[in-house]
Amino acid sequence: MEFHLKSPHTSGLTYNPAYHRFTIFLSVCVFLLIVAGALVTSNDAGLAVPDWPTSFGSFYKIPPMVGGVKYEHGHRMIAQFVGFLTIILAIWTQRSDCRPAIRKLGWFALALVIAQGILGGLTVKMLLPWYVSTGHAMLAQTFFSLTILMSIFASRRWIETEPQHFQDIAPVGLRTLSLFALAAVYVQLFLGGAFRHGGMHFIYHIIGAGVATAILLWTSIRALTAFPQVRPIRAAASAILGLLVLQLVLGFGAYLTRIEWGKDAAQPRMSMVLTTVAHVAIGALLLAHCFMLSVQAYRYLSSRSLAPAVAPGPKVVTA
Ligand code: HEM
Ligand code: HEM
Repeated sequence: MEFHLKSPHTSGLTYNPAYHRFTIFLSVCVFLLIVAGALVTSNDAGLAVPDWPTSFGSFYKIPPMVGGVKYEHGHRMIAQFVGFLTIILAIWTQRSDCRPAIRKLGWFALALVIAQGILGGLTVKMLLPWYVSTGHAMLAQTFFSLTILMSIFASRRWIETEPQHFQDIAPVGLRTLSLFALAAVYVQLFLGGAFRHGGMHFIYHIIGAGVATAILLWTSIRALTAFPQVRPIRAAASAILGLLVLQLVLGFGAYLTRIEWGKDAAQPRMSMVLTTVAHVAIGALLLAHCFMLSVQAYRYLSSRSLAPAVAPGPKVVTA
């Protein structure tokens, strides 16, 4: 997919600060919603409210927020708020943005949030089967990444600057690497979710961690060494490196608190809740930064096949 834009003068597109701020606000809310969702799972509160779409038989009454109910119903309330914000996003995007692809993304975001709500409901109705809960976890992070991408596409830098192009003539270019990185994090998210919800052995997540770490290191180090002058690429790659280290440490913490020390615990311990929730949250940030790196690589870099035979134009980078 190409993300080239005509200059604002020819396309009629102008930066809309209020809309941009709104997209950032939505991303922050979705991040908090992911934390709230992870708290439901880590506190074993998935069935604390047994019915859906009602909560204890009512669409609007707030049940006593005690025990697991405060996590499960609290999560539903934040989800409703995010759903409402996403309706505003979809409509506002149609009014504020003249790029057809971005308008479609606005509707797509709305479709994702509806699908996510239905998956959340299904997981309750079907008594938390691992594949539905894992699907819910994966869609949550995809939706979060989408809101972040929408805020990048709405940013002043994206709208008002014409990107300088760099040729990437390495055998495996950064565009391709960034897609590998995305795929690796998705597989890892699936394996982590499948273990967390009781569908798969932990060993697959550990093997996946090795593979994902290798691919993420390769991608981010290549980005930082070959294109340090492209600020958005450098920023995304540095963030990926930092988040990766943090994620590995938290993963080890989650392993110790859940599997080693927590296996005989009668109820979830605070240390287990903190490490597992943080591991889910940093996983979401990691996925979002892999998306960011991909779109920036597609914006600023030309792949080998696109490079002209004689190159008076773009800069050539091989390292
Ligand atoms: C925008 C909407 C939503 C988002 C982004 C979202 C996000 C999440 C996340 C990230 C988790 C944690 C998954 C994990 O730790 O593996 C979760 C868990 C959960 N969510 Fe949602 N959620 C949304 C809407 C809903 C709705 C409407 C319901 C309705 C019942 C719901 C019910 C649940 C349940 C029951 C769990 C716990 C699953 C388990 O423990 O197996 N979610 N959610
Ligand atoms: C690139 C590295 C890694 C990534 C991207 C990653 C990502 C994830 C994600 C997203 C989840 C939760 C999925 C969900 O929302 O349901 C998860 C679960 C988990 N991960 Fe990782 N992980 C990584 C490395 C590790 C490592 C190295 C360990 C252990 C040494 C580990 C231990 C765990 C554990 C124990 C869980 C389940 C937590 C629970 O049961 O509540 N992870 N991982």
